[in-house]
Amino acid sequence: AAGLAHEIKNPLAGIQGAMDILLMRCDDNHSAREVLTNVKHEVQRINDTVQMLLARARPRELKFRQVALNDVAQQAVNLARAGLSGDHRHRITIEFAPGDHAPVLTVDAAQLEDAILNLILNAVEAIESEGHIRVAVTPNENGTHTIINVTDTGRGIPPESMARIFSPFYTTSANGTGLGLPAVRRIARAHGGKVEVDSTVGNGATFSIHLPHK
Ligand SMILES: Nc1ncnc2c1ncn2[C@@H]1O[C@H](COP(=O)(O)OP(=O)(O)O)[C@@H](O)[C@H]1O
Ligand SMILES: [Mg+2]
Repeated sequence: AAGLAHEIKNPLAGIQGAMDILLMRCDDNHSAREVLTNVKHEVQRINDTVQMLLARARPRELKFRQVALNDVAQQAVNLARAGLSGDHRHRITIEFAPGDHAPVLTVDAAQLEDAILNLILNAVEAIESEGHIRVAVTPNENGTHTIINVTDTGRGIPPESMARIFSPFYTTSANGTGLGLPAVRRIARAHGGKVEVDSTVGNGATFSIHLPHK
């Protein structure tokens, strides 16, 4: 993400420099002056946006401690429920199924909570009319990992988009940033784990964070 942002910022700096030169050559009462000043402001706006995205994409240092994963997931669910706006509140239900193997892992609880919350918010976004979201904590088959599943009944992901959803800035949402899933993947990997996705168009999606017990 940082590389892409710099690819945008460097040409922008070039444009800003060119605008300054043109403005200097322009008489105070020249008709082009207002246009040039507007372009300069718009370039500054793009620059500010890229700056904001860069700041958000910067990985935080991890602070590991032992926590009950059920509590981390419960907290993310609580935040998501509290954040459902009036419009969503009556048509989206969020179910929480804690794991009865009560896993205690060494994790960065805040970042993991952030990752789960990101997945739930994507699920909310994917539900057009009514729907259901289920957050479940379960052990994998041979007990080496704990899996946090976020399943929704939303629109699903077309096969041709699957390869792109983890790319920085890929978004299909009008006010999205495309930085959610890259962050979720980064957090899972920082814990030695991974994120998997399974989806059928029209039938929703399941995102799974796999965390090793070590
Ligand atoms: N649960 C989901 N159902 C359908 N599409 C999804 C889901 N989660 C993510 N996506 C797709 O992946 C894209 C990228 O997600 P993300 O990185 O979180 O960025 P953003 O939420 O800002 O769009 C979304 O815009 C959407 O197209
Ligand atoms: Mg998102």
